[in-house]
Amino acid sequence: MQNEKKNIIIAIDGFSSSGKSTMARRLAAAVGYRYIDSGAMYRAVTLYALEHGMVGADGTPDVDALVAALPDIDIDFAVQSDGSQHTMLNGEDVEGEIRRLRVSNAVSPVAAIPAVRHALVEKQQALGRERGIVMDGRDIGTVVFPDAELKIYVDASAETRARRRFKEMVEKGAAVSYEEVLANVVHRDHIDSTRAESPLRRADDAISLDNSAMSLDEQDLWLLEQFKRAVGE
Ligand code: DC
Repeated sequence: MQNEKKNIIIAIDGFSSSGKSTMARRLAAAVGYRYIDSGAMYRAVTLYALEHGMVGADGTPDVDALVAALPDIDIDFAVQSDGSQHTMLNGEDVEGEIRRLRVSNAVSPVAAIPAVRHALVEKQQALGRERGIVMDGRDIGTVVFPDAELKIYVDASAETRARRRFKEMVEKGAAVSYEEVLANVVHRDHIDSTRAESPLRRADDAISLDNSAMSLDEQDLWLLEQFKRAVGE
């Protein structure tokens, strides 16, 4: 049973492949909240840029062209019959496409563009207006929802995270090497934490979690404890 007091905002931030999406999705399901993957929104904008010839061979986005195209980019989430959500770009299901390495390799410079961030942050804040959501990303607890009642900052080493992503990609049939994935993780960590606009950082009031050695069950229990404390149960 939900009650008014339980409709809080939960912000989960951390580096790529820290397991924050799994964590956010499972927590949302456990407490009956909506889950929003903010990274998927940056990935969808990046896919649009790639498909419209706005990313150079060296991975540099054409900032002016992309900013001019922002009003033409509509991003939404469609709930599937199994309860999962698929990212929609201008009405097209791009959930599979946005997880590919070509998008992963191009997304960080796109996510560093201030106008892209402003447009997506606005959309994220609108999605949170009704509260009762779990959103994961890099700047959710610092910029998008600085007043979120529960903020979690996920920490795990680059190697642990690269191993996870590599396993995930191999399971999906991608032809990648562990070294390639690790290089992508390290490269993105660097861009995400050193960019001028909303770099990844732990909010002062966020609870840190290093989940490198935690099972999913242990993590679920830990999250539920944090949730109960945040709603005052
Ligand atoms: O979490 P992810 O790997 O799907 O994120 C994709 C990219 O988007 C990553 O380079 C960081 C960026 N991002 C961001 O800058 N701010 C967010 N709130 C979420 C993701």
